[in-house]
Amino acid sequence: MSTKTVTITTAIDGNSTNRRDFLFISTAAVAATGTAMIAWPFIDSLNPSADTRAQANIDIDISQIEMGQRVTVKWQGRPVFIVRRTADQIAAAKLDDNNSGLIDPATDASRVQQEEWLIVIGVCTHLGCIPLGQSDGEPLGKYGGWYCPCHGSEYDISGRVRRGPAPKNLYLPPYEFKGNGIVSIG
Ligand code: FES
Repeated sequence: MSTKTVTITTAIDGNSTNRRDFLFISTAAVAATGTAMIAWPFIDSLNPSADTRAQANIDIDISQIEMGQRVTVKWQGRPVFIVRRTADQIAAAKLDDNNSGLIDPATDASRVQQEEWLIVIGVCTHLGCIPLGQSDGEPLGKYGGWYCPCHGSEYDISGRVRRGPAPKNLYLPPYEFKGNGIVSIG
């Protein structure tokens, strides 16, 4: 298994604390993209075969990600959304833990290892589109997370589905914090 470290060093507008960047990072290459409505062949990919699981993981240097910033990295061919959540976002996520209207009930704590960092697979659990919300100016939906334009599903800032037809929360990739600002995905 090989590991590549990616350092996130973007400075798109310099001082916004709630900017949303869509960085699509593939191995050593870094490229910005605004494309969002991409059907993702996710049904099988969310249940990777053993040989797929054996593929490379990636180490991401998240030390430069600012509070409120969103970045996207590519892991095993899929987008992974990383959000450094603000105190207000964390509070909002916790507030909804006991919301009886949750489609796929889960506490916020069950979906994060460190509450400041939300790391989810950025593939809608309905039919596999990439939800909007990572780039500046994109709609976040009513619940402050992501909006899937394909059929209108909405996710909150914990990645929980709040409006269907998506049936499940955004899936969580395996990851661990390794210290020194490095998170290893895979
Ligand atoms: S693929 Fe997202 S709502 Fe249908």
